Amino acid sequence: MKILFAASEAQPLIKTGGLADVAGSLPQAIAGLGHDVRLVLPAYPAAVEKSSPLVEVAKLALPGSADPVRILEGHLGPQLPLYLIDAPHLFDRRGNPYTTSAGTDWPDNAQRFSLFCRAIAALSMNRAGLGWNPDLVHCNDWQTGLVPAFLATEENRPATLFTIHNLAYQGVFDRATFDSLNLDPALWSPQGLEFHRNFSFIKGGLAFSDWITTVSPTYAREICTPALGYGLEGLLQHRVTRLQGVLNGIDYLLWDPATDPSIVQHFDQTTFERKVSNKLALQQELGLPQNEDAQMFGHIGRLVEQKGVDLILNVLPGMLQRPDLQLVLLGSGDSGLERSLLQTAGAHPSRVAAVIGYDEQLAHRIEAACDCFLMPSRFEPCGLNQLYSLRYGTVPIVHRTGGLADTVVDATPKSLLNASATGFVFDYPHESALWRAVERAIDFWSRPKSWWSKLAISGMSQDFSWDSSAQNYLVIYQKAIDDPAQNPLTGLGIP
Ligand code: ADP
Ligand code: GLC
Repeated sequence: MKILFAASEAQPLIKTGGLADVAGSLPQAIAGLGHDVRLVLPAYPAAVEKSSPLVEVAKLALPGSADPVRILEGHLGPQLPLYLIDAPHLFDRRGNPYTTSAGTDWPDNAQRFSLFCRAIAALSMNRAGLGWNPDLVHCNDWQTGLVPAFLATEENRPATLFTIHNLAYQGVFDRATFDSLNLDPALWSPQGLEFHRNFSFIKGGLAFSDWITTVSPTYAREICTPALGYGLEGLLQHRVTRLQGVLNGIDYLLWDPATDPSIVQHFDQTTFERKVSNKLALQQELGLPQNEDAQMFGHIGRLVEQKGVDLILNVLPGMLQRPDLQLVLLGSGDSGLERSLLQTAGAHPSRVAAVIGYDEQLAHRIEAACDCFLMPSRFEPCGLNQLYSLRYGTVPIVHRTGGLADTVVDATPKSLLNASATGFVFDYPHESALWRAVERAIDFWSRPKSWWSKLAISGMSQDFSWDSSAQNYLVIYQKAIDDPAQNPLTGLGIP
């Protein structure tokens, strides 16, 4: 199969969250199964620098750009062909791909990503003269949502798959923005891109794609309900026969405690006792007292309401009642939360360390060092940090939602006995429920050390590599190719 994989970020070129991890590893896993996969991203400065040498392979005249858009070709890793869409007036900006340095959305995001979508559609119709027609375009999140809508009216179009990584981010703009983009007026319809009199990018993916996936089976069910459907649950229910949850995998070449170049002491399931050296090293690095018996809790993530960091701060007073307990936090985002983390660490310097910023290597060292990883997300489409934690023998404490529910097995007397337990799971995103799970972890830590190692090693032995998920995607690609969906607007008499 020939697949064009479209995303707005991909590790190691540019990353704000888990989408980048997926876009950097899933296409390679599919290519590894013998398919012709190519990745397309906007030409952000970081992406250009990290993927050079690049060759200009085409110029495309597109609505929305006075100058022709250049297509630059390079590689991600040794094998994966990469196209960068070079429109300097829209993408030649340092820093975060979506926001200004003050954290607000770029005011021209609709122009930026509609042009990106037009370029992807043109590439996939072989209009850039590259002599390559993909069988399927795999779109990811709202930044690529217009692609299925653009392609829906094309003759001999490729199939389209739209993956929802997070339905909370929809790319919604006003009517005037829709008008300014010279889009087909027929798209302005409740069956099309209109969403409560606004213009929704994500509806392009949800309404027009041949198939829809999201990143865990539980989240696929949750988004069909009002609680997590954000008003799109009706459309998703309507398309439920073409909606599937496929759990994300992780890249075990990048996240392997036996080979990770960012950590001081390598270890695996058979040498689990060596993990503690990473704790001692991190304690020294972050100025915490060096104590191998301290139970170290960690959290890494975007500081947004979704992730429930406020719940962690609320249970902290209880945690600090316990001797020998340390907490390490790494994150950036909401400035109020950033301040709270720093204040908390300042008030308890021998117990809490907080690092504000984005630091990939430190994230690896935290995963390697901690005993427990806190992930009290209010919702979590898949979540990758609990998977990295499992791999690094760091016992996850998670809210039973989305991908967290699908990947962590709660430690109960029964699951401990049959060695299926991998973490501590709680049922409500409230501080009292989180606190009870933390208490269970504290209690379990005080039991014979072999109990803890057995739990951690059972997490390490889980297989969350891309192997089976990549196979699942191939089955869905084939279904989308064999059985294209009808354009939702044609039944309305719109060509
Ligand atoms: P989301 O995509 O919602 O942010 P995921 O758990 O799927 O959540 O993925 C988050 C990814 O981003 C992980 O690879 C995590 O390690 C990384 N990450 C998030 N915040 C930071 C940070 N401040 N420093 C380093 N890595 C981070
Ligand atoms: C999103 C979700 C996260 C998921 C990631 C990759 O950002 O919030 O749960 O793991 O995408 O699919």
